[in-house]
Amino acid sequence: MSDDMSWTQRPSTFEPPKIDTSVAHSARVYDFILGGKDNYPIDQAAADRMLESWPSLRVSMRENRKFMHRSARWIAQQGVDQFLDVGTGIPTSPNLHEIVQAVTPSARVVYVDNDPIVLAHAGARLTGTPEGRITYIHADMNDPGAILDSPEVRDTLDFSRPVGLSMIAVLQFVLDDQAAYKLVRGYLDRLPSGSYLAISTVTTDSSPKPMGTVVAEYAKRGIPARNRSREEVEPFFHELRLVDPGVVLVHNWRPDPGTAGEVQDTEVAMCGGVARKP
Ligand SMILES: C[S@@+](CC[C@H](N)C(=O)[O-])C[C@H]1O[C@@H](n2cnc3c(N)ncnc32)[C@H](O)[C@@H]1O
Repeated sequence: MSDDMSWTQRPSTFEPPKIDTSVAHSARVYDFILGGKDNYPIDQAAADRMLESWPSLRVSMRENRKFMHRSARWIAQQGVDQFLDVGTGIPTSPNLHEIVQAVTPSARVVYVDNDPIVLAHAGARLTGTPEGRITYIHADMNDPGAILDSPEVRDTLDFSRPVGLSMIAVLQFVLDDQAAYKLVRGYLDRLPSGSYLAISTVTTDSSPKPMGTVVAEYAKRGIPARNRSREEVEPFFHELRLVDPGVVLVHNWRPDPGTAGEVQDTEVAMCGGVARKP
């Protein structure tokens, strides 16, 4: 194991949590819909049911992943070279560190997720370079203090310099609005001026009925989720400087040249944005 993987510094008594294949997990359903192989029949059945109710779900999830690529690249291009990615998902290349290290090879990234299957694959797939250190933490994002004070984070990120905080497709799992805003604030309050926040989350603004059905399918399987209107997403960026074009459906956020119009608004149920902490 490489010595730049802080998660390997866990005490030898650390017991990796077991992967439960009897219930669907959000990370594995997402992986299946994106075309990955790290999922089980229970996840495939859940995904099939969701795709039946809304075939564009696959387009929407792919566009969400592309938003992660573009927003992380853009933040790295502003000179930020350290990132905290909360709700990482099953590693799927390119991961955030590959994107930002293509801009700045020495960029450092801390990944956080609480799904045992993400932990199982993190060691092999989230590997850094000698100059660009990568750390994975198995933790619940709902406790920002524990994450930010962990030795893994403190050894990897320098809080006297700007950090890129990325919370992509994860806030829909925090049902209460005030708790969700407070959660994001719990991370941001500890980051210095010049840090950036990138968020995407589920919205039914563009496809109200079908996406409502998908959210209900998640809930039936024990994965309660909450969709938010653009007006409900904007407060996540309270007191920050939103970068153009603001909070939009993710495919409309600084699309790559030549791709505008390839995807219709009604095919995307994720909205998001990027903002700078003044
Ligand atoms: C839909 S995936 C998004 C993955 C990735 N950010 C992306 O957009 O491509 C949501 C991820 O959030 C993780 N997650 C959900 N609740 C979490 C929590 N309380 N703490 C940490 N991770 C969580 C899930 O395990 C899953 O991997």
